[in-house]
Amino acid sequence: MSTAPTQPFTSDVTLTVNGRKRTLTAAHHWTLLHLLREALDLTGTKSGCDRGECGSCTVLLDALPVYSCQVLALQAGGKEVVTIEGVASGPGLHPIQEAFINEDAAQCGFCTPGFIMSAYALLRREPSPTEADVRAALSGNLCRCNAYGRIIQGVLAAAKAMREGAS
Ligand code: FES
Ligand code: FES
Repeated sequence: MSTAPTQPFTSDVTLTVNGRKRTLTAAHHWTLLHLLREALDLTGTKSGCDRGECGSCTVLLDALPVYSCQVLALQAGGKEVVTIEGVASGPGLHPIQEAFINEDAAQCGFCTPGFIMSAYALLRREPSPTEADVRAALSGNLCRCNAYGRIIQGVLAAAKAMREGAS
């Protein structure tokens, strides 16, 4: 009779998270979501479905939005990760966060970090998005509270504020 291993295989991984280089020991089966929440205590990134459907776990990986539940932690080695904790550059909120508050774009708020990360990725590459651009960029994020209209208005308001000089 074979004996199952009692310890998971692990490897060291070095990645940059919100501008800070981090080296951790990660089990081979860990997802990036698990590493962020459980090893780095960055719990702003949410675990909704854990199967690539809801977008609540969205982070930027080398500037592209990804479902962190669908990326192995070791696959993020050598890459730059930005989470919701890293979008604001100073002590205040990022204009997208401000706009979500002003537009009342969060109800329960569980989906909000993921939506903001997708919007953040969009506004970094397209400062003047159309409503269709915003809808396309957010199409991988689900909101069970059905706040889509206010979320889209929030992203458009943030784009306008950023064009007008908010950092
Ligand atoms: S938790 Fe990753 S897509 Fe739902
Ligand atoms: S605000 Fe509740 S899931 Fe979106």
